[in-house]
Amino acid sequence: MRLVQIVVMGFVMFALPGHSQEIGQLTTAGEQWDKRFDKRMYLYGMEPVEFLRSQIDNLPRGKALCLAAGEGRNAVFLAQQGYDVTAMDASPKGLEKASALAAQRGVTIKTEVGDLQEGYDMGVEKYDLITDFYYHDTKMLPDVMRALKPGGMFVLQNFSIQQLDTNRFGPKNPDYLVKPNELLEIFADHRIIYYEDTVVDLDEGMHQGPGAVVRMIVLKEAVE
Ligand SMILES: C[S@@+](CC[C@H](N)C(=O)[O-])C[C@H]1O[C@@H](n2cnc3c(N)ncnc32)[C@H](O)[C@@H]1O
Repeated sequence: MRLVQIVVMGFVMFALPGHSQEIGQLTTAGEQWDKRFDKRMYLYGMEPVEFLRSQIDNLPRGKALCLAAGEGRNAVFLAQQGYDVTAMDASPKGLEKASALAAQRGVTIKTEVGDLQEGYDMGVEKYDLITDFYYHDTKMLPDVMRALKPGGMFVLQNFSIQQLDTNRFGPKNPDYLVKPNELLEIFADHRIIYYEDTVVDLDEGMHQGPGAVVRMIVLKEAVE
């Protein structure tokens, strides 16, 4: 009986779409994050990433796509700045909270449930601004640059590998942490207008205290 159970579990594990390697259970990334987000509090707070706030005047206006937008703090901030925002995430629960936050702040955002590891379609030359905060996946980066309009910008802040020695929060799997110069190499054909590999003092919900992060802004403009 137990053998049958193990065989069935193994089958379900491989048959499930979007099976996430992060927790290694039988669930998709969306289901795992739904569980985390299924509480009243906003896990990372309601205010945007400080880097986004500090750079807002340097970013092109128009249509914005927030990748792995979670509970929407960055998407809602962009909507408050006048952007036409699409917030995408694997977690329906996160996006439900994002819409609630938008309503509370008197703005609207579009939400799309999608899995970035399962070929989420970002479109072609569709956005002026694309953001990625705390979701490190180098495979999606060509899609990001394709989805930007010429002159568009990609803004990112993710934990670096140094975070393993800096604080207890953030991913423990090195695959989800930025390696030294990794992003500089990937974006060598594009114009990197901001790059910082640093430790900053974070005050955003579960992220409290020093955080080792890479911050980057890429302009979609070919370089010779
Ligand atoms: C650390 S949270 C960051 C949320 C948000 N960017 C912020 O800064 O508040 C990581 C987010 O990545 C999302 N995520 C994880 N795997 C994903 C995937 N395969 N596709 C889309 N989103 C994913 C989670 O649902 C979660 O919202």
